Amino acid sequence: MRGGRFGAALLSAALGLCLMSQPLSAAVPEYVGHKYCRTCHSSPDNDRYHLWLQSAHAAAFESLKGAEKVDPECLACHTTGSTGPLSDSVSEKDLRGVQCEACHGPGSLYKKMSVMRDPKRARDNGLWDVTRDVCLRCHR
Ligand code: HEC
Ligand code: HEC
Ligand code: HEC
Ligand code: HEC
Repeated sequence: MRGGRFGAALLSAALGLCLMSQPLSAAVPEYVGHKYCRTCHSSPDNDRYHLWLQSAHAAAFESLKGAEKVDPECLACHTTGSTGPLSDSVSEKDLRGVQCEACHGPGSLYKKMSVMRDPKRARDNGLWDVTRDVCLRCHR
């Protein structure tokens, strides 16, 4: 859990109290890293994982030199989820490069098989539609 997460949790709790129809525990999606996606998206018939691994996006962190590797400005587009929130199970190191979640959204809530199988539930749990705007966040 990172800084800001507590504030976000308080905010969603407060929203939950205001809108009584919303569950109090409304969770904020967190970045989990490409290893999670790999477990289900590297089957030979539709190997999204290795397709990505061979792309320039996967190597985007390696393009940074020296002090650029810790410059928040560069990290914003050459890593994934640099402003978080990150899941407890990953560190910044696990989120180097433009990973799956940079385009598909933070995966902590949608990565469960039961959710992923259902396009609507997946979107309700943080899966983004990859529109042009997603690319334009970094490609200006
Ligand atoms: C437990 C297995 C599992 C994990 C982990 C998983 N997925 Fe999926 N994902 C699926 C299944 C099953 C589908 C349904 C259709 C398919 O096979 O593509 C799916 C579908 C998708 C789709 C297409 C959804 C749509 O409706 O357009 C995207 C995009 C996706 N996953 C991205 C990810 C990303 C990014 C991660 C990592 C954060 C991830 N998945 C982790 C199993 C998984
Ligand atoms: C989180 C930021 C980010 C997002 C989102 C993003 N990109 Fe990129 N993209 C980059 C960076 C950074 C590079 C350069 C990687 C390197 O070589 O260091 C790159 C490289 C590329 C390249 C290769 C360019 C070359 O010169 O070889 C293509 C093509 C591309 N992106 C297309 C897209 C498309 C299409 C989308 C949306 C679906 C997208 N990108 C979303 C950051 C992003
Ligand atoms: C707003 C997003 C964004 C920021 C901020 C950003 N970059 Fe990039 N960077 C990109 C994209 C997108 C590309 C790919 C451009 C293309 O090929 O079309 C790229 C490409 C590069 C490349 C060329 C990679 C190659 O091998 O072709 C280098 C080097 C680079 N960036 C370094 C940096 C450094 C250093 C910083 C910080 C001072 C930085 N970038 C900040 C988005 C960004
Ligand atoms: C640069 C942005 C970008 C990155 C990074 C990215 N994707 Fe995608 N992904 C897309 C776009 C755009 C589409 C829809 C068009 C298409 O099918 O190629 C898509 C489609 C998909 C689909 C649904 C289509 C199908 O064949 O089932 C899955 C699943 C998926 N991506 C998984 C992943 C996984 C897993 C990763 C990381 C290993 C990843 N993506 C990385 C942009 C991205």
